[in-house]
Amino acid sequence: MAKTKIQPANAVNGPVALPGDKSISHRYAILAALADGASRIEHFSPAADCGSTLECLEPLGAQVKRSGDAVTITGAGPRRLRRPRRDLDAGNSGTTIRLLSGVLAGQSFDSTITGDSSLRRRPMSRVIEPLTRMGAEIRAKNGGLAPLEIRGKPLHGIHYTLPLPSAQVKSAILLAGLFAEGTTSVTEPVRTRDHTEIALEEFGVHVEHSGRTMSLEGNAELKPRNLTVPGDLSSGVFFIAAACILPGSNIMLHEVGLNPTRTAVLDLLAAWGASISFVCVREVSGELAGDLAVRHSFLEGGEIAGDKAAQLIDELPMLAALGPFTERGVEIRDARELRVKESDRIAAVAENLRRMKAKVEERPDGLSVAGRSAGRLRGAKIDPHGDHRIAMAFAIAALGAEGPTTIRDAGCAGVSFPGFFDCLERIVER
Ligand code: S3P
Repeated sequence: MAKTKIQPANAVNGPVALPGDKSISHRYAILAALADGASRIEHFSPAADCGSTLECLEPLGAQVKRSGDAVTITGAGPRRLRRPRRDLDAGNSGTTIRLLSGVLAGQSFDSTITGDSSLRRRPMSRVIEPLTRMGAEIRAKNGGLAPLEIRGKPLHGIHYTLPLPSAQVKSAILLAGLFAEGTTSVTEPVRTRDHTEIALEEFGVHVEHSGRTMSLEGNAELKPRNLTVPGDLSSGVFFIAAACILPGSNIMLHEVGLNPTRTAVLDLLAAWGASISFVCVREVSGELAGDLAVRHSFLEGGEIAGDKAAQLIDELPMLAALGPFTERGVEIRDARELRVKESDRIAAVAENLRRMKAKVEERPDGLSVAGRSAGRLRGAKIDPHGDHRIAMAFAIAALGAEGPTTIRDAGCAGVSFPGFFDCLERIVER
């Protein structure tokens, strides 16, 4: 999709079926490839990013069969991966390259993993440093950037305190720990998404928890499993935001992942006045899931800083773009990490909000966006800078703007949600 035009809307109404959670799908795929036998994963994410993970696992010896939204992955056991004949391509996916670095570091062969031009600009030293301490040998081009040349080595367990909150780094270390001698433990400064820990338990590897420290024993065996991935709350947030800002809206999101390490966005929106109710919460493969009913409501807005900024990291573009629809505006601080995501998300959000005539101040670690009193957003030409979450956040802002908006290169939404624009059109009322 080259570009797409979004007309303002009166409301969003109806049921929304979300794609499978991207973070969980990556983890199930990687662990299934390490297990001895066939695992079936239902409601696997259609995200291009998760496709990149599958495409990296095949040359490592896993058999991958897709049928509808289910994937069957047959692994040969943790010590039977084979040397890939070509460089592994993680595409746009930070989770793929960082998690697989942990797996590749402990193999008995060498490999190279790289990605697209955006991924090749993103920092990899954060995984290289702890993996090197475990005995890995990783050569990065150009000061800590991909391609990563990983020389497989015998690893030993370490205790590592993460210098910054990152579920990807935590996961890379825990995955390397599966191949290490002894105990590997990671302490995190802020609780980040714990899908790796939950998935490891599902595949038969015990993870010990003590406060914010997670440990596992090396030389683990993984058992194949049949699992179902819940809907992706980080994709659901765009629809929740649309329902909040458009009067008369009433939507129902089905089978959404409600893992407490991901739901900070629901707490925040509820504190701002959003009307969100949980229906029928249950456990699916160790993860919480349920239905969410969301109605239009007036949002107060406010400040997002400190640990909250880390817990809301993927939702910040949407929350910032909600600023002009709120009473007090939205102020984001302590979110410097946004500058090294799929795009520089602080710059991309500020630029596109300004195109829509919002009042924005950009800072090194965040931005502040003026509320309703600064005037209504105007339709504009949006440049998402190839970043899926920027494209989707501005599609929602466009629904509440005056006049049509054009989103350039809107197909980039497929990185996490290929059916996003069709799904949105199905519930929009004009
Ligand atoms: C992810 C972790 C987060 C998040 C990313 C997905 C994961 O990244 O922003 O979209 O699946 O582990 P960091 O670990 O860099 O914070």
